[in-house]
Amino acid sequence: MTIAHEEAVIDPAAVDAIFAQARTANSFTGEVTDEQAQAIYELTKFGPTAFNSQPLRVTYVRSDEARAKLVGALMAGNRAKTASAPLVAILSYDTNWAGQWDTFLPGYNAPKAMYDANPELAAATGNNNAHLQAGYFILAVRSLGFSAGPMTGADFGAIDEAFFPAGGQKSFLVVNIGQPAADAWGEAKPKFSYEDVVRTV
Ligand SMILES: Cc1cc2nc3c(=O)[nH]c(=O)nc-3n(C[C@H](O)[C@H](O)[C@H](O)COP(=O)(O)O)c2cc1C
Repeated sequence: MTIAHEEAVIDPAAVDAIFAQARTANSFTGEVTDEQAQAIYELTKFGPTAFNSQPLRVTYVRSDEARAKLVGALMAGNRAKTASAPLVAILSYDTNWAGQWDTFLPGYNAPKAMYDANPELAAATGNNNAHLQAGYFILAVRSLGFSAGPMTGADFGAIDEAFFPAGGQKSFLVVNIGQPAADAWGEAKPKFSYEDVVRTV
C-alpha cells in the first residue's frame, strides 16, 4: 500500500520504501563500500538541527580488531548480528559541539554563552540533536537501498573508553548497515494509529 501523498515531491513508491515498507534488519548480507558509507553521511548532514549545530559524529567500524572491541561491549543478543554486518557505525555526539559555533553558524553566536555557562544544557542539546541526526542517518541508509539495525543494547561507557579514550565524544547508538538477509525480520510489528497518537487542538 502506498501511503505517500500523491503530491509528494519524490516518487511515492520511494517514500514508501523508506518509511512504510522499510524494516529494522537483524541479519545482513552484501557489502557497503567506503563511497556508500560516505554517501550515508552526505545525506544525513542536511537534516535540520538546533542552530545548525550538527553534533552527531560517526565512527565506521571496519577493522577486525575494532569490530571485536565493539562486539564485546554489546548485549549478548546484539553480538552475532553486529559481528557479521557488512558495516557498523557508532553514533556519538561531540561534547564540545558549542565550541565550533563559528563554523556551523557563522555571524550569529549570541546563544553560545548560554551553553558555555550551562554544561548540562550543552550536553542535553548535543545529545538531543545528535539523536535527531541519528534518525536522518537511518533514513539515509534506507534511501541508498540498505537496511539499518539500530541498537542501544550496549555498554556505551565501555564503547567510549575503547573508541574515544581522549574523551570529547559520547556514544549513544550502534547501527548495523547492509542488505537485509532472507531472515532479516519477522512479521510486521504494530504501529500506533494516527488516532492513538495525534491530537489537533
Ligand atoms: C534507539 C533504538 C534502539 C534499539 N535497540 C535495539 C537493540 O539493542 N537490539 C535490537 O535487536 N533491536 C534494537 N532496536 C530495533 C527496534 O526494536 C526496532 O527498530 C523496532 O522494533 C521497529 O521494528 P521494525 O522496523 O521492524 O518495525 C532499536 C531501535 C532503535 C531505534
